[in-house]
Amino acid sequence: MELQPWISICDSRCAFCYFPTTATTKIRIEPYLEALKKELEMYAGTRYVKTSVFDEIVLGGGTPSVLSAEQMIDLIDFCKARFNINDEYFIKVTGSSKTLALSKIDKLAEYGVYQMDMGAQTFDDKLRKMMCLPDSAADVEKAIRHARKLGLCVCVDLMYNLPGQTMESWINTLKKAIELDVEVDTYSLHVDPGTLLEKMIKTGKSPPPGDAEYEKQMYLTAYRMLTEAGYKAVGHDRFSRVEWHMRENCLNGWPWGGILTTGAGCFMGYLQRFSYSNIEDINQYMKTVNSGKLPISRLSESTDEDMMRREMTRLYLRLPVSKTEFMERFGKLPEDVFPQQLKRLKEKGLIEIDDREIRITKQGEVWKGNIAWEFAPKQTG
Ligand SMILES: C[S@@+](CC[C@H](N)C(=O)[O-])C[C@H]1O[C@@H](n2cnc3c(N)ncnc32)[C@H](O)[C@@H]1O
Ligand code: SF4
Repeated sequence: MELQPWISICDSRCAFCYFPTTATTKIRIEPYLEALKKELEMYAGTRYVKTSVFDEIVLGGGTPSVLSAEQMIDLIDFCKARFNINDEYFIKVTGSSKTLALSKIDKLAEYGVYQMDMGAQTFDDKLRKMMCLPDSAADVEKAIRHARKLGLCVCVDLMYNLPGQTMESWINTLKKAIELDVEVDTYSLHVDPGTLLEKMIKTGKSPPPGDAEYEKQMYLTAYRMLTEAGYKAVGHDRFSRVEWHMRENCLNGWPWGGILTTGAGCFMGYLQRFSYSNIEDINQYMKTVNSGKLPISRLSESTDEDMMRREMTRLYLRLPVSKTEFMERFGKLPEDVFPQQLKRLKEKGLIEIDDREIRITKQGEVWKGNIAWEFAPKQTG
């Protein structure tokens, strides 16, 4: 299980970003941290959490690096004191080089942070400027080199199919990531309503992103370059060269493990059959927590049918669906529940089925999003 407090605050807004974050200038950090601790405390007091063990503490958001090193460490200490943490646990911190002074990295490394997650996005300065990323590619590189030198594992988010991004630019970004010896999360751009990028495209200030074929070619280029460099595709977007990262990944427990996420605007939290997200508005969030209530804005409890569908989305995470486990949980086999979908996907060469499990094929990896949609409830109306 993963414990994931969000610092939903950023120094500046990247043009593409759809995450519900607040500008540093519009919020006082200390009261936010107090509310965050109060929310964590509420969960820590529940019977379910008291009997749960967490393997990872992940400071996400947002950009936790807007905090001082001392504030980040204090928050992690708080989590360690209030929750049951596994003997072999990992601390991961998300940081952007725009707020990640090298001295902060020193302190975090010394404290025992295992991994820095950095939204590098691209090492192309022209694109960085266009996407409103204020730090330069050289700044990002410097922060990564520094963290690697201290022995930290670094995982960078890289985006493809950005407006105006040439294949050459994408290849150079991938080459740089390989050279820096970091793990990579690759994200294809999604233009979200309400983002600055959507406005820029509408008003002609930015060209639109490439079409689906171009996006596919960019993904395949990344796949080829990274696998040739010894990486393996894991999870939804990750490329890793560290074997035990693949084995120990918290995702492996999907959909029965859990991510206890907290903070304004956090989403994708789940504990067994419950999924939830929090109030986005940071002031409303603080007010709710301070009145003693959990700041949940959406909560759902999955039925058996929902859980069977979720179990099938392991394919999206490149994980096998075990027939024995499916039978133990639901008293049926996946083929009994989803006969047409499985037949269709198998005929298309996107999945393989044997006596033990269902897996996606190499071809299926490209279409794993579409595979997941096959198991979604049919829309009506
Ligand atoms: C919440 S951000 C956390 C990263 C951190 N704030 C930073 O920028 O260093 C997680 C990642 O989501 C990705 N992302 C944000 N908006 C996106 C979009 N519209 N389409 C695809 N990926 C996006 C970016 O790669 C980003 O680094
Ligand atoms: S990508 Fe990261 S730094 Fe940029 S606005 Fe989103 S959360 Fe903030």
